[in-house]
Amino acid sequence: MGKKTKKILDNSNSPFYKWFPDGTLNTSYNAIDRHVLSGRGDQDAIIYDSPVTNTKKRITYSQLQYKVSQFAGALTKLSVVKGDRVIIYMPMIPEALVAMLACARIGAVHSVVFGGFASNELAVRIDDCKPKVIVSASCGHEPNRIIEYKPLLDKAIEIAKHQVEKCVIFQRDTFKAQLNPNYDIDWNQIIKDVSLAKSVEVDANDPLYILYTSGTTGKPKGVVRDNGGHAVSLKWSMNNIYNVNPGDVYWAASDIGWVVGHSYIVYAPLFHGCTTVLFEGKPIGTPDAGTFWRIISEYKVKVLFTAPTALRAVKRDDPTGEYIKNFDITSLQSLFLAGERADPDTVLWLEDKLKIPIIDHWWQTETGWPVASNPLGIEALPIKTGSPTLAMPGYDVQVLSEEGKEVPRGTLGAISIKLPLPPGSLPTLWNADDRYIESYLATFKGYYETGDAGYQDEEDYLYIMSRTDDVINVAGHRLSTGAMEEALSNHIDVAECAVVGVYDDLKGQVPLGLICLNKGCNKTHEIVCKEVVDLVRNDIGPVAAFKSVAVVSSLPKTRSGKILRATIRKIADKVEWEMPATVDNPLVFEEIKKALKPLGY
Ligand code: COA
Ligand code: AMP
Repeated sequence: MGKKTKKILDNSNSPFYKWFPDGTLNTSYNAIDRHVLSGRGDQDAIIYDSPVTNTKKRITYSQLQYKVSQFAGALTKLSVVKGDRVIIYMPMIPEALVAMLACARIGAVHSVVFGGFASNELAVRIDDCKPKVIVSASCGHEPNRIIEYKPLLDKAIEIAKHQVEKCVIFQRDTFKAQLNPNYDIDWNQIIKDVSLAKSVEVDANDPLYILYTSGTTGKPKGVVRDNGGHAVSLKWSMNNIYNVNPGDVYWAASDIGWVVGHSYIVYAPLFHGCTTVLFEGKPIGTPDAGTFWRIISEYKVKVLFTAPTALRAVKRDDPTGEYIKNFDITSLQSLFLAGERADPDTVLWLEDKLKIPIIDHWWQTETGWPVASNPLGIEALPIKTGSPTLAMPGYDVQVLSEEGKEVPRGTLGAISIKLPLPPGSLPTLWNADDRYIESYLATFKGYYETGDAGYQDEEDYLYIMSRTDDVINVAGHRLSTGAMEEALSNHIDVAECAVVGVYDDLKGQVPLGLICLNKGCNKTHEIVCKEVVDLVRNDIGPVAAFKSVAVVSSLPKTRSGKILRATIRKIADKVEWEMPATVDNPLVFEEIKKALKPLGY
């Protein structure tokens, strides 16, 4: 189905570029129906493996077609039509994928919210994208506890100004939620007797989804993904970057709440006719550090994609790789890493233990697919540890100076991409064209600013060194220290605060907070610190991993009042630092050092 585009790029309204402006398609049709029609109906589309609930399940392309058409029918029954938004707040279960694909089938725009975010974050997203319906489940499973979704969802609905019409709740066998008769509907009830929904033809530039990601401020950015460029770029990447073929088993051990999950658990493997593995568990502790290798051997996984932090956890629990020896993982052709810097220690350990190419590649929620990689399907380039290799076709990556000039090779600068961005990358932010320009296009005229700093070597290999903004990367999860500071400031006893990302050998980075208390606060420091830790957990969610905070009498600032966060970070990381020339009160650093000691810094 769909109409071939006559034009490739419409640049008449730059910087709002449109790829394939007169093409039409349906994403769900391309991910499912096309394969059923070409004879892949009996092939597994999804293999669901959930050590946290002891469940394994296979869903063929034909079965997926039925489930998706049925749930799309249910959404239609709830009056969801093309262009309406649907929030999906679900654990890693097949129904989450079914809900995403069902939205795509009827042209509705989904917005998946990661389960580790608290009600407040969910409420912010509800108010921004104004969903007609929310799809959720009774619970999620963390290794040590069951997460009840309904109380989180109910609280978010209460906080949000936008009124959600209906919530569809999937009741899991492990825990049944109490439904609210005013707006909740049981998934299994609503799918009964519905008419199966057909794929709706949408324009290539119609939005497929909105995915919120952290920026400098507390307000997340709603990254928009269109249908056409998304399908083209992801399909292309499966062959050319990951070197997999239709029929192969591909596993992205991530979460559907993140872009890696959207692109490489759901859409790309299905566009390409692969079998995707949906894993509900952790790299360690469910039950042990052998889980990844067990899954690879059991399902003959050809390519694994995960975050370095997951493998650091495996390496820490099993440094000599004993678990690897228990499984036949000869099906594994290559391992791709992204989401954070791939530290050479972990990469070298993996090379030694697995004896396959370990490919670091670099991208972002905004780009939707790899900006820099080693394109194994085109040509396996020599690997340089510490580099995600070269810019992929479509990305004109340049490293710029503050003045916006390309810097010489080997010189650190702002990694930027010359416009237009390729198909698949964000066309704008949801309902926020101005913010899109301000956030990404305002610093360097004609370029998209990635927010990462780094350099290129003489052979154009890229090296990603750090962020240039307040984004930190905690266990592969992108978080905003600005958002955490906003949460801390809401505490009645906090006069001022700063949050920085400090080095952590497992999670890469973890947040560290410094707070100054209001005069007259008569609580002990210990009590206030516990309260602010709870506040961040309740406002942002457990995924923020905000556990370390110290009280100081003042924060180090420049004479113009800017908090010297970079210096605080260096002190905590115990790396060399120089007294900033413009600091207003040099003694404050001694106090910080003292305050951080009991926290292990
Ligand atoms: N729902 C509810 N809570 C969640 C959650 C979810 N979906 N995901 C994580 N959490 C909670 C965890 O239970 C934990 O809570 P705690 O403070 O009570 O222990 C907290 O959020 C932090 O979770 P996590 O980041 O998973 O850390 P961890 O210490 O439990 O595990 C790792 C460490 C390295 C094993 C884990 O972070 C990991 O597997 N990381 C890989 C991440 C990844 O794949 N990222 C995708 C980018 S490609
Ligand atoms: P996200 O939008 O959550 O995918 O996070 C994107 C950010 O993660 C990037 O801007 C980088 O800061 C970081 N990142 C992702 N992949 C890599 C990588 N391979 N090397 C270094 N940093 C990375």
